[in-house]
Amino acid sequence: MPRMDDAVVVITGANSGLGYAGTKAFAQKGATVVMACRSVERGRDAAESIRSEIPDSSMFNLEVQACDLADLASVRSCAERIRDEYDAVDVLCNNAGVMAIPRRETEKGFEMQLGVNHFGHFALTVELFPALRAADGEARIVTQSSGAHRTGSMDFADLNWEESYSKWEAYGRSKLANLLFAYELQRRLENAGIEEVTSLACHPGYADTNLQMRTAEESGNPLMKLGMRIGNRLLAQSPEMGVLPMLYAATADASGGAYIGPDGLFDMRGYPAIKRSTDASYDHENAQQLWRRSVEATGANLSLTDFSQADESLPAE
Ligand SMILES: NC(=O)c1ccc[n+]([C@@H]2O[C@H](COP(=O)([O-])OP(=O)(O)OC[C@H]3O[C@@H](n4cnc5c(N)ncnc54)[C@H](OP(=O)(O)O)[C@@H]3O)[C@@H](O)[C@H]2O)c1
Repeated sequence: MPRMDDAVVVITGANSGLGYAGTKAFAQKGATVVMACRSVERGRDAAESIRSEIPDSSMFNLEVQACDLADLASVRSCAERIRDEYDAVDVLCNNAGVMAIPRRETEKGFEMQLGVNHFGHFALTVELFPALRAADGEARIVTQSSGAHRTGSMDFADLNWEESYSKWEAYGRSKLANLLFAYELQRRLENAGIEEVTSLACHPGYADTNLQMRTAEESGNPLMKLGMRIGNRLLAQSPEMGVLPMLYAATADASGGAYIGPDGLFDMRGYPAIKRSTDASYDHENAQQLWRRSVEATGANLSLTDFSQADESLPAE
C-alpha cells in the first residue's frame, strides 16, 4: 500500500474483524480513518486498541462516528458530520455486515440483512458522494461482498422476505445486492463521464471474525457455535489476510467495476487478485431495478449532474 498521509478513509464496521484490520492497515500508512460504527463505545475501544498496537500514534488519526446502518437517520447524520468536518473523502469502504440472522427489520421495516448490508450502504454512499467528488485525485468506493453472493437471487416481488424467509438466502441476496450496486454505480459514473470517482467490489474469502460467531449466537444452537469455531480455526484465514482484497480495491492499480478476492483454494484464502463474480451480479436490468428500489426505500438519490449535493436527502424523521 502507498503512504496515505493526506487521505481520509471512511470505513463502516470498523470496530471488528475486517473493518478493524482495515482501519489498522490504513492507519499504519498515515491515513485519517473515520471509523463509522454502530456502537461508539465499541468503536472507541477499537481505536484505543489500534493506537496501542501502532508504535507512533501521532502519524495517523482515528475518529469514531456513530453510524447504525439499520437506521437511516443515523446514516444521514453520520454523513453530515463527516461532510462538515472534512473537505473531502478519498476512500469509502462499505464493509459492515450481518450474516444469516433470524428475520428482523430495520427501523424503516426493511429485512435486516438487506437493510444493513445494502440499503444502509447505498444511503451512506449517496450522502457522502459530494465529499468523494471533492477529493484531490481519484476517490474510491469499495463495497464488501462475499462468495455467498453466488447463492443469492433477486426477487423484487418480495425483496424484504415478507412472504417467506431463509436466513442464508437472505444473506446471499444482500451480498448479490452489494455487487449489483457496486457495478451499477460504476456504470453510472462512466455514463456521466466521471473518472475521478470509481466503484469497486471485493470479498475476503473466509476470514476468522465475529461474523460467524454472531450467526451462531443468534441461531441459539450451541452445536452451530462449536461448528463455526472449529471451521474458523481450521479453514479461515486471519482478518489481516481477509482484508487484503478491500485494501487492494482501495489503493492498488485496479479499475472501477473490478471485483477483488483471494487467489487461493476455492476463493477462500490467499492474496488479492482480480476475479469475476457470477453472471447474475452483472445483470444490468436487475441492477437498475435494485437502484430504483434503493432510492425508493432510502429516499437517497444520487445526482451525477450536480455534484454539490445529493438530489434528495434522506426523508426527515
Ligand atoms: N468473515 C468472513 O469470512 C466474511 C466472508 C465474506 C464476506 N464477509 C463480509 O465482510 C464484512 C465484514 O464482516 P466481518 O467478517 O469483519 O464481521 P464482524 O467481525 O462481525 O464485523 C461486522 C461489523 O459490522 C458491524 N455492523 C453490524 N450491524 C451493523 C449496523 N446495523 N450498523 C453498522 N454496523 C453494523 C458490526 O458492528 P458490531 O460489532 O457493533 O456488531 C461489526 O463492526 C461483512 O460485510 C461480511 O458480509 C465476511
